[in-house]
Amino acid sequence: MAETLCPLCQGNGWVLEESAGGTIIARRCQCYSEHINQTLLEQANIPRRYKNCTLNNFEVHNDSHQKALKIAKKFVEDYPVQEIGLLFIGPCGVGKTHLAVAIIQELILKKNVPCSFYDFRDLIRDIQNTYTPDSSLTESEVLSPVLQKEVLVLDELGAKRTTAWVEETIFYIINHRYNNKKLTIFTSNYLDLEEEEDKRDSFYKKGDESLVDRIGIRLRSRIYEMCKVVEMWGEDYRRVAKQASYRR
Ligand SMILES: Nc1ncnc2c1ncn2[C@@H]1O[C@H](COP(=O)(O)OP(=O)(O)OP(=O)(O)O)[C@@H](O)[C@H]1O
Ligand SMILES: [Mg+2]
Ligand SMILES: [Zn+2]
Repeated sequence: MAETLCPLCQGNGWVLEESAGGTIIARRCQCYSEHINQTLLEQANIPRRYKNCTLNNFEVHNDSHQKALKIAKKFVEDYPVQEIGLLFIGPCGVGKTHLAVAIIQELILKKNVPCSFYDFRDLIRDIQNTYTPDSSLTESEVLSPVLQKEVLVLDELGAKRTTAWVEETIFYIINHRYNNKKLTIFTSNYLDLEEEEDKRDSFYKKGDESLVDRIGIRLRSRIYEMCKVVEMWGEDYRRVAKQASYRR
């Protein structure tokens, strides 16, 4: 079916207007930005399950939610002035991926920023797959959007135990992004526990592995340097959302 043309610009993306001084000027049609947003959203690789996640439908059930939401909103507002990304860290189902996705969707819609979502395990698998002889993609075809998107979400950092090769590859990616002033938003289940008495401890078991156990000290240290750490804690939303008391 043929696409219907925009009635304002007949599909060429420009409209002509008379300025106050009487000269004719060309201005971008409103359909142009809608078209860009649509393309950026399609290219962002956001999993279907998370497509409806926004900052507006993120519910605040405790102080950490409140703080994380505030930081997420400020991140969108400040973009592109800030120098560092974010690391959302906390137990299962507290809304880390929800917030990370909400930020990039908002950046696309409000500021036309090219963003992308990648699951840590999928990224490693996709890179490794390029080494097989019948691979349809080259390593640089996989890496190029990962290196070049203005904002990248790398979800579930540490979900796969790293090998020296994985550590080196991820280090290369995040270092390259950092040096080129591209922002990265990480999420992770693995907390580096410091204060034993803290409230968040009740959501972790003693003896759980920490982020440094999973990704190594070099990578962890680089990520802490390039990100603001946002700790979240609370019930697993997937489990408790059905209870009426957890709904607004
Ligand atoms: N505070 C919240 N408000 C609204 N929806 C939420 C909230 N927290 C979680 N959810 C919803 O619950 C589901 C699980 O949240 P999400 O996947 O973001 O958790 P997570 O912290 O990334 O968990 P995991 O560590 O398992 O990846 C999602 O559908 C998300 O939209
Ligand atoms: Mg998640
Ligand atoms: Zn138009």
